[in-house]
Amino acid sequence: MAKRVLILSSSPRRGGNSDRLCDEFLRGAAEAGHQVEKIFLRDCTIHYCTGCGLCSREGRPCPQQDDAARIIEKMVCADVIVMASPVYFYTMSAQMKTLIDRSCARYYTEISGKEFYLLLTAAEPDRQLMLRTVDTFQGFFDCLEEAHLRRSILCPGVWNVGEIEGHAALQEACEAGRNC
Ligand SMILES: Cc1cc2nc3c(=O)[nH]c(=O)nc-3n(C[C@H](O)[C@H](O)[C@H](O)COP(=O)(O)O)c2cc1C
Repeated sequence: MAKRVLILSSSPRRGGNSDRLCDEFLRGAAEAGHQVEKIFLRDCTIHYCTGCGLCSREGRPCPQQDDAARIIEKMVCADVIVMASPVYFYTMSAQMKTLIDRSCARYYTEISGKEFYLLLTAAEPDRQLMLRTVDTFQGFFDCLEEAHLRRSILCPGVWNVGEIEGHAALQEACEAGRNC
């Protein structure tokens, strides 16, 4: 069955290592007949959550006028959400964290029953160290209803743009897209 697949690419580097994993996931998912959309977060305007509480206390829409609501609406509608990030100081990119914080405005309970995939890249060659970053995403998933982390594709040992070429993670991402 065709699924709606939303890919959130959060590196500030277009065509960078994690963005390349996004493209391979997209290619696999599209070949399998899924309906895929990729959003490059740096193209969007997403302000920080101010913690004003209008959404959580009063049930009112977030007063900020930017792209966050549009993206979160797509997360609510998707079957599969792919979250891609470089490892920055052992956590996710600021772009991704800023979007996650803004999901508060839809009470995040509306993002329920989703299948998640993580695509992460890091310079350090130790794959084990990347689990710390997976854990930061797990904190978000734990706040959602029935979030299923299907797969984390980790690509350690890549620093500069292009270093990921030839890495097995690209093929893994394509296969994950095909089988999602
Ligand atoms: C601000 C910053 C912080 C980083 N922190 C880490 C880190 O903690 N661990 C690591 O292995 N690599 C770290 N890196 C390297 C990136 O994770 C690596 O270059 C990655 O491949 C970038 O992915 P991208 O091309 O998708 O942006 C950091 C890079 C930057 C710019």
